[in-house]
Amino acid sequence: MCSRGLKIFLVVSLLFLATVFTAIVVLFFTILKPRDPVITLHLVDFQHFQLSDSFLYKLTKNSNISLQTVISMKNPNYGSFKYGNSSGYVKFHDMIVGVIPIKGDLIPARSQINMNTSINLMLGKLVNAYEFLSDFANGTLNLRSRFILRGKACMLKIIKLKTRTYTACKISLKLPYNKEVNSICKSKLQFDL
Ligand SMILES: *[C@@H]1O[C@H](CO)[C@@H](O)[C@H](O)[C@H]1NC(C)=O
Ligand SMILES: *[C@@H]1O[C@H](CO)[C@@H](O)[C@H](O)[C@H]1NC(C)=O
Ligand SMILES: *[C@@H]1O[C@H](CO)[C@@H](O)[C@H](O)[C@H]1NC(C)=O
Ligand SMILES: *[C@@H]1O[C@H](CO)[C@@H](O)[C@H](O)[C@H]1NC(C)=O
Repeated sequence: MCSRGLKIFLVVSLLFLATVFTAIVVLFFTILKPRDPVITLHLVDFQHFQLSDSFLYKLTKNSNISLQTVISMKNPNYGSFKYGNSSGYVKFHDMIVGVIPIKGDLIPARSQINMNTSINLMLGKLVNAYEFLSDFANGTLNLRSRFILRGKACMLKIIKLKTRTYTACKISLKLPYNKEVNSICKSKLQFDL
């Protein structure tokens, strides 16, 4: 047998819990809802870089060039994101032709950072690839780049979650004078639970 006071207490407690629960759910799906970061690659040097016949003629199989690149990372979330050192690769068809070192950093909540790095492009290997000549003749060189950022997302200073961000970019260069460099990237944020 419950007393009237206990009943009221139980009802009020349940209402309170329901309200807190609803508030958490609403918060989670609005403010805390994780959004994918927006990552873009800007190949600064490609504009000044000409794959002319005379330039290609001088290349050897082991020739490398370093191309200045800016990776901008925009964090649309209400939490900060910290990631460690990483490295990305650049592929031409199925062949790895370049690496991008990525230095770890912190992106505060709802902000953007620009990171200076460089693509170490194995130009000799690229030029000697089986498909290079036909793509060169066609006037477009398509490269793909992928990297994974491993780190921690921190929300409201107390919730810390391990995350992995997968980024895949398509880079297209117009040849031989690449005035136009297009890079389209897609990123996906994933929690390591
Ligand atoms: C070019 O880079 C590749 C891979 O990083 C390396 O193995 C090769 O020795 C480099 N070539 C030269 C000439 O430094
Ligand atoms: C990350 O790389 C920088 C240089 O690029 C180095 O100074 C630093 O020690 C590295 N950090 C870790 C945790 O490896
Ligand atoms: C990146 O490089 C540019 C030009 O080289 C420089 O102005 C800028 O301050 C650098 N940014 C960072 C974060 O180092
Ligand atoms: C050549 O380029 C055109 C347009 O840029 C494209 O539609 C076509 O598929 C390309 N051909 C080859 C063999 O890559």
